[in-house]
Amino acid sequence: MAATTDAAPPRLTVIGTGYLGATHAICMAVLGFDVLGVEIDQSKVDRLNSGTVPFFEPGLPELLVKALDSGRLRFTTSFAEAAEFGDVHFLCVGTPQQQGSEAADLRYVDAAATELARHLHRRTLVVGKSTVPVGTAARLTELVQRIAPAGDQVELAWNPEFLREGYAVDDTLRPDRLVFGVTSAWAEAQLRAAFAPVIARDTPVVVTDLTTAELVKVAANSFLATKISYINAMAEVCEATGGDVTGLAEALAYDDRIGGRFLRPGLGFGGGCLPKDIRAFAHRAEELGVGQAVAFLREVDGINQRRRARTADLVRELAGGDLTGVRVTALGAAFKPNSDDIRDAPALDVATTLHRLGAHVTVVDPAATDNARRSFPELAYGTDALSAAAGSDVVVLLTEWNEFRLIDPEAMGAVVGRRRIVDGRHALDPVKWRAAGWEYRALGRP
Ligand code: UDX
Repeated sequence: MAATTDAAPPRLTVIGTGYLGATHAICMAVLGFDVLGVEIDQSKVDRLNSGTVPFFEPGLPELLVKALDSGRLRFTTSFAEAAEFGDVHFLCVGTPQQQGSEAADLRYVDAAATELARHLHRRTLVVGKSTVPVGTAARLTELVQRIAPAGDQVELAWNPEFLREGYAVDDTLRPDRLVFGVTSAWAEAQLRAAFAPVIARDTPVVVTDLTTAELVKVAANSFLATKISYINAMAEVCEATGGDVTGLAEALAYDDRIGGRFLRPGLGFGGGCLPKDIRAFAHRAEELGVGQAVAFLREVDGINQRRRARTADLVRELAGGDLTGVRVTALGAAFKPNSDDIRDAPALDVATTLHRLGAHVTVVDPAATDNARRSFPELAYGTDALSAAAGSDVVVLLTEWNEFRLIDPEAMGAVVGRRRIVDGRHALDPVKWRAAGWEYRALGRP
């Protein structure tokens, strides 16, 4: 195989085809690169090769078909084939929270790096994209160079990924910035070639060392989590004082230095990234002897958890103090709208709490019902908001899907048993709902 030259774009492999990897592989092929996706799960490989995205992500199915039709994208289970094919290998496997610990579980990253390294016979760049504890890239460099037949001809780089579920395609094709953690000019050149079409769109590139690149990701997610918990802490203060957190947030957002993004109060953050990333960061900082510097992240986590408990409390209050036998309609299961992801979903946390407290909970979600049913078979599931709410004693909005925002309070009022609603996401207009005879309650509002 010809070595990479300035004229020939590098051939890419993407190892791991979850949200991050599948999106990266598909988008890179759409941008014109030859891409081989690597996945140990044969059924996922078969689905992707036949044009099916194994998760919900707007816009991605169309791009998968386009990429497959172009002949520039394929998926395989073979690391040997990947090593032979690729000039630049992206590691995109998951780093979930360890069972019984707050630390990140690195077994998939280590396994993928080891398996790939075994087959690397020539000069190549291995690029980590997964979110990892600081220090992992240095450790993997040693591991990969020890195992690879090409030895220190194999270099490691870190290129953190900031994609949001629901906007994954756009965040990949038009990211706010690219971060390249590298140890040589050659590695930087490889990465610049691998992202040439993205860089050509005037995307800022920050070139730095491996450690800083690893830290950027956890620092960004910690900041976002802190911003959300900050406004939710203000909601707690509003609850004690009679203030209105939505007016407070609006007023803060007009200050350019603060800004309104990630300042939406409500049930708080969940998903496969923010909760586990702040815990893993706090844990790693403690290991490194700088735990005090990020001790506030435990508080951020605590505030976030309290929002879930408080939402369940509001439902109980509206139900008259006792949830035994109370029929609750829970609008939402996904951790956020436009996603079928239920990892650490605040909505399902609240729904299961209500169930434990004796309520009969029926959950409705436009995309996440199948996933939710598999994990929480004890809950009942409806097909749409209106039919699920028939005879309901309390409705609680937990994920702000657009179709829930658009519910007509009169139409829903006609089917429920009692017109009582908790708006866990500040997604509804209280004036409209109260005018339709609903008892309306929301976190941090009078
Ligand atoms: C996040 C980061 O945004 C992304 O950069 C990173 O790569 C992965 O983690 P994601 O998990 O897809 O992305 O979700 P995001 O859109 O960031 O929302 C996270 C959670 O915060 C959701 O549960 C959302 O409902 C909640 N949220 C967000 C709020 O409660 N208030 C806000 O103002 C914003």
